[in-house]
Amino acid sequence: MNIVILGCGGFIGSHLLDRLLTTTDHKIIGWDPESSKIQKHLDNPNFTLHQRYVDDPETQQDLRDAVANGDVVINLAAICNPSEYNTNPISVIKSNLFDVYPIVELCVEYKRWLISFSTSECYGRTLSSYVGDTSYENPDLYELKEDETPLIMGPIVNQRWTYACAKQMVERLVYAHHKEDGLPFTVVRPLNFFGPRMDYIPQRDGDGVPRVLACFMGALLNGDPMKLVDGGKARRTIVSIYEAVDAICRMLDNPEKANGHAFNIGNRNNEVTMAELADLMRKTYAKITGDASYEDYPIIEVSAEEFYGEGYEDCDRRMPDISKAKELLGWEPKIALEDVLLDTMTYFHNEYAGSMKPAQVAE
Ligand code: UGA
Repeated sequence: MNIVILGCGGFIGSHLLDRLLTTTDHKIIGWDPESSKIQKHLDNPNFTLHQRYVDDPETQQDLRDAVANGDVVINLAAICNPSEYNTNPISVIKSNLFDVYPIVELCVEYKRWLISFSTSECYGRTLSSYVGDTSYENPDLYELKEDETPLIMGPIVNQRWTYACAKQMVERLVYAHHKEDGLPFTVVRPLNFFGPRMDYIPQRDGDGVPRVLACFMGALLNGDPMKLVDGGKARRTIVSIYEAVDAICRMLDNPEKANGHAFNIGNRNNEVTMAELADLMRKTYAKITGDASYEDYPIIEVSAEEFYGEGYEDCDRRMPDISKAKELLGWEPKIALEDVLLDTMTYFHNEYAGSMKPAQVAE
């Protein structure tokens, strides 16, 4: 196949390239302004990188040609970091909606299969959270089913939802073109993929607030306390990036089964609260370093306002129904959270520990 990947240099893109370029003969044309995570593939004859943003005017003709000659277009390009949704909302809406619009149009024009990366945030908060079912007694009020669960965004003043709303609009646009123009499509809703190369480590190779894995890992590496936003009550299910990439490969291998569907890609068995995750990560780090004192590493609580600024609102819980991925793609994730963390944190430790002397840990 000829595969076009937009955003091929990010966390998911870099792992997808690892897999496709080592286990298949597919030809890949990718776009990404960043190439640090995919250096080892730059000389591969099956891979061509355009090191530019997708909205770069110089990209337009090349992109058109690539889509015209491609079998499938995978869009991974996105600003997908919650710390930006309320602080940088216009860029978030632009990159996740308006920059994607021309790509959808090109796929419609050439009738090319579009695998559109969306988000589990499209579901918003659970119905349970709105009716006060804080013990989650009724699964119908919190389980996320691709074709049944309503997508509920919070109010405009809570700019957390800029991203989810933009992504939801793209899903609706893609679906509308599928119905009206026969656009072949697959929507992927990722639920917290964890693995090596996710985001960046603050004060080492980036500034700002990355997603929770890199925040907690950065704290451990830099000697800062781990911070639990609003007490760390929010729950997430965590799936290994390697198994997430398996799901994408199964889609590529079974276009007829993947076409016309949205899929939750997550691991129901790996659910934790953020407080549990912080504890598990410090224990895992004690194992990796052989330093038992990490088991009691400082964890502090901070308010969402303090941590993210005004307009943050959290998704309380994301428990995916993955029966569609199981039935149509034969995909079922098995890697336990402990193993995901051990592998991922060992990578971060080997990559970053020692590159800067940690400051004294402040309680
Ligand atoms: C983000 C994106 O918005 C989703 O689109 C994406 O699907 C998801 O990551 C993902 O990785 O799949 P979210 O899970 O809310 O969603 O992002 P994180 O920044 O990883 O936050 C997870 C939870 O940890 C939140 O409750 C957050 O408040 C908390 N957190 C984060 C902390 O308690 N401490 C921190 O230092 C950082």
